[in-house]
Amino acid sequence: MLIDTYGRVATDLRVSLTDRCNLRCTYCMPEEGLQWLAKPDLLTDDEIVRLVRIAVTDLGITDVRFTGGEPLLRPGLVGIVEQVAALEQRPKMSLTTNGIGLKRTAQALKEAGLDRVNVSLDTLRPDVFKTLTRRNRHKDVIEGLEAARDAGLTPVKVNSVLMPGLNEDEAPDLLAWAVAHDYELRFIEQMPLDAQHGWKREGMITAGDILASLRTRFELTEEGSEERGSAPAERWVVDGGPHRVGVIASVTRPFCSACDRTRLTADGQVRTCLFATEETDLRAALRSDMPDEELAAIWKRAMWGKKAGSGLDDPSFLQPDRPMSAIGG
Ligand code: GTP
Ligand code: 5AD
Ligand code: SF4
Repeated sequence: MLIDTYGRVATDLRVSLTDRCNLRCTYCMPEEGLQWLAKPDLLTDDEIVRLVRIAVTDLGITDVRFTGGEPLLRPGLVGIVEQVAALEQRPKMSLTTNGIGLKRTAQALKEAGLDRVNVSLDTLRPDVFKTLTRRNRHKDVIEGLEAARDAGLTPVKVNSVLMPGLNEDEAPDLLAWAVAHDYELRFIEQMPLDAQHGWKREGMITAGDILASLRTRFELTEEGSEERGSAPAERWVVDGGPHRVGVIASVTRPFCSACDRTRLTADGQVRTCLFATEETDLRAALRSDMPDEELAAIWKRAMWGKKAGSGLDDPSFLQPDRPMSAIGG
């Protein structure tokens, strides 16, 4: 079991498959991209499957999410999903993606054993999409979303980050669209995890702003807390149901006390938190031919040291060295 000194138990593993991306969202990375991890530093497909097996067999992980960067850029993705699905204790499996290329791969991913996807889409306007992501790929994302729903990778969730002066007025339109297409929309507060260190608390759109904007057009009723569990999203029932909208308020309403996550970066480092300032090197251990039990013990020790919270409210808060794209979203 992956338990920490505050009694939290991690049952949800987020695995980053690559730090690369084919978009350049302004809240994430600069126009020119970043210094990508070198190929030999990345875990191989087999190494990833082995660590996931240890996590589900020996450490109590029940849910595995593949992230990036953009995980669809990982050539072996379908094979990794297939191998994890074949594990004796098969975990629930999901993917967080920007949706580009999903049109081509949704069916194969479903057949390989993926349960569901979360797709990032911040705007319904192709021109705003181009400004926000610096790429003209709005149509690909919309088509990817439809393909995911048609393939049964459901519930399909959509993640939107609202940025001042760009798409901040779009919350009600996004919700009307999501309801019409049967996607579960969640708004995410912008976090200080961008490579450029450009985040400012004063400028960000808060959960309060988003709810006020949605309430100009929809009636929202808060969902009971027992339904939320350890999920980062607080959810509201829209116009009496059945659709819901979520807000992931990592900055203004942090949910760290209920956190059930452990993370593995594409280069094999265990992170206890998105905002952790330290990592534990599982790759070196893995490549030194250690038996499963010892790898599991290293992972347990790493999680035991998980801090109480993100530290965002501490005056001494320091943004982690790695940006979100290299940690895993
Ligand atoms: P489901 O609700 O189970 O689909 O998963 P999820 O919401 O955790 O998955 P997703 O990858 O879509 O994450 C959505 C957003 O939640 C991320 O982009 C982050 O903004 C936020 N998030 C995910 N994990 C953490 C975390 O450990 N800490 C904080 N503060 N935010 C997180
Ligand atoms: N703050 C909040 N969300 C972010 N994402 C990427 N960078 C940030 C940030 N700095 C979102 C993406 C995607 C999810 C994995 O994380 O839009 O939906
Ligand atoms: Fe790519 Fe996601 Fe970063 Fe956008 S937020 S640039 S989609 S990794």
